[in-house]
Amino acid sequence: MSLVDGVGRSIDYLRLSVTDRCDFRCVYCMAKNMTFLPRQQVLTLEELQRLATVFVSQGVRKIRLTGGEPLIRPGIVELCRHIAALPGLRELVMTSNGSQLGRLARPLVEAGVKRMNISLDSLDPERFRAITRNGDLRQVLDGIEAARDAGFERVKLNCVVMQGRNFDEVPALVQYAIDQGIDISFIEEMPLGDVGRSRGESFCSSEQVRALIAEHHPLLDSPENSGGPARYVRLARHPQTRIGFISPNSHNFCASCNRVRMTVEGQLLLCLGQDNAVDFRALVRRYPLDDQPLVEALHKALRGKPLRHDFTGQGEVQVVRFMNMSGG
Ligand code: 5AD
Ligand code: SF4
Repeated sequence: MSLVDGVGRSIDYLRLSVTDRCDFRCVYCMAKNMTFLPRQQVLTLEELQRLATVFVSQGVRKIRLTGGEPLIRPGIVELCRHIAALPGLRELVMTSNGSQLGRLARPLVEAGVKRMNISLDSLDPERFRAITRNGDLRQVLDGIEAARDAGFERVKLNCVVMQGRNFDEVPALVQYAIDQGIDISFIEEMPLGDVGRSRGESFCSSEQVRALIAEHHPLLDSPENSGGPARYVRLARHPQTRIGFISPNSHNFCASCNRVRMTVEGQLLLCLGQDNAVDFRALVRRYPLDDQPLVEALHKALRGKPLRHDFTGQGEVQVVRFMNMSGG
């Protein structure tokens, strides 16, 4: 089985959001005061598992669980165990803010989660708190170290770079990744949701970040490609650490897009930068015992997957959904 969209792109990657809630309120992701979804609007664990099963039966090979913060959803480890065991799935991976990993890294590895991406935007406790609005740096660093030791195939840090907040820390963050023996990606901020500040002022391009790193480390271009918007370099002197640049604004990667997203409300998003969505929650609830309507809706939705997003960089809100509603 394989899934192909209307223009021939093979879609084998699902990003599945398991909660819109989070213990942090990162300035690029959320507004200061957020209202979260009432419980009936959120997919149950059984519904999440059923959707994952249907998508994998149709050709999805990789699932990333996202949020919000996936690890604050009760029952998450059991959900991982069920999804990881689906026949045909190549890998189950996760994006987390790290706050719960001290406790959960090992159970997640045992449940079959293969790789972990952890957000880390600063190594300074006060700045970290300012960016996350209530995160505790020590707790996250402990979580990163627990993940490093737990036996994931790969642990990667994700850092959203903002002028005036953490751009000057890029070399220190690279050094931290080297010291931990893990990878790090630097991400350009995307214009998702009105977070209550102007993003244009703090926008940092991947070019700027790369130039700053190159002042400290000789960089080697690397052909590695995940089918996504990331480009990788390696460090001549530290071969175990890869550095990624995720440039949703400045590079167009849509031609090789291999992914779709499912929000925790069961809306299938065909493109992060467009509003097209299909309501799978309505389908799972209308057809509790019959997967065929879901299968048909999936193939039909893919035929209409947009060709490309139109983020321009510099800008203000272009998509009204917040990132915690879009699934990282
Ligand atoms: N732009 C870019 N990345 C974002 N993230 C959340 N909001 C944004 C945004 N507006 C990413 C961060 C975080 C992950 C959960 O989602 O990398 O680490
Ligand atoms: Fe939470 Fe991640 Fe959003 Fe930060 S970026 S508020 S950690 S979901």
